[in-house]
Amino acid sequence: MPGRVEGKVAFITGAGRGQGRSHAVRLAAEGADIIAIDICHDVEGALPMSTPADLAETVKLVESLDRRIIATQADVRDFDGIKAAVDAGVEELGRLDIVLANAGIASAGGPVETMAPDGWKNTIDINLTGLWHTARAAVPHLIAGGRGGSIVLTGSVAALQGSANMSAYVSAKHGVLGLMRTLALELGQQRIRVNSVLPTNVNTPMFMNEGAFKLFRPDLENPGPDDVAAVAAQFMHVLPVGWVEPEDISNAILFLVSDEARYITGVALPVDAGALIK
Ligand SMILES: NC(=O)c1ccc[n+]([C@@H]2O[C@H](COP(=O)([O-])OP(=O)(O)OC[C@H]3O[C@@H](n4cnc5c(N)ncnc54)[C@H](O)[C@@H]3O)[C@@H](O)[C@H]2O)c1
Repeated sequence: MPGRVEGKVAFITGAGRGQGRSHAVRLAAEGADIIAIDICHDVEGALPMSTPADLAETVKLVESLDRRIIATQADVRDFDGIKAAVDAGVEELGRLDIVLANAGIASAGGPVETMAPDGWKNTIDINLTGLWHTARAAVPHLIAGGRGGSIVLTGSVAALQGSANMSAYVSAKHGVLGLMRTLALELGQQRIRVNSVLPTNVNTPMFMNEGAFKLFRPDLENPGPDDVAAVAAQFMHVLPVGWVEPEDISNAILFLVSDEARYITGVALPVDAGALIK
């Protein structure tokens, strides 16, 4: 039986680990070839990023599914680098159908009155401008293909909710929805659909770390995942879980980019265990 994205090519940013890797593997399992990029080195003021070995592992996993993958180390802040990577990938794989603008950093930052201005700039540059760069580099290929296409910009529950001490992250994610809706309007007549997913806490290095645990449990000296799960499951979520798995986000994205969602565009789909109705 053909896969749900058989014969298509997907460009994925932040594919070195976490959700981006999961999306690459899920789409490859459903028949897509992959153009992957990741920064693969640390960013000032953010948690440790992926490494070249992480991206190599993504390559191995996709190839083990008998799909092709062109992986490049590139920074979404660098438009020329992103464009070169996607251009080379399309040249090699012959087409582009799907774009997943997933790369991002978490930045707590603290209250606005004490936050470092560079922290604001860095987060906006990666989590918002980086997605614009991704779209700017990839959309001409979708249009040139003449077969329509599908773009998913990764948001967060923070795209619809404020969150104290996270002004830059929240503002960037709110901006992602503005970009998503604008692109959906601009590209609809070419049958290019543009949507967002809004994850709650996801079991990736961005969430599974001491800094994030302390945001949830400032009352504890050394909080761990179980301490977070206890409060998130009861107070943050409707469903009794502390976080979701990267595959849960990949499954939602697979639906959005597949033909099953052919008339869905301009939508922000929460994968949030009910967080946004609380
Ligand atoms: N983990 C969560 O709880 C959570 C919740 C809601 C939304 N999100 C969003 O999901 C997306 C994926 O995050 P994740 O959970 O997989 O985290 P992650 O930290 O595991 O993965 C992020 C990836 O993006 C890469 N990256 C970061 N900056 C980059 C840059 N400038 N250029 C290229 N690559 C870069 C990193 O190296 C890393 O591989 C992000 O947009 C994040 O904001 C995450």
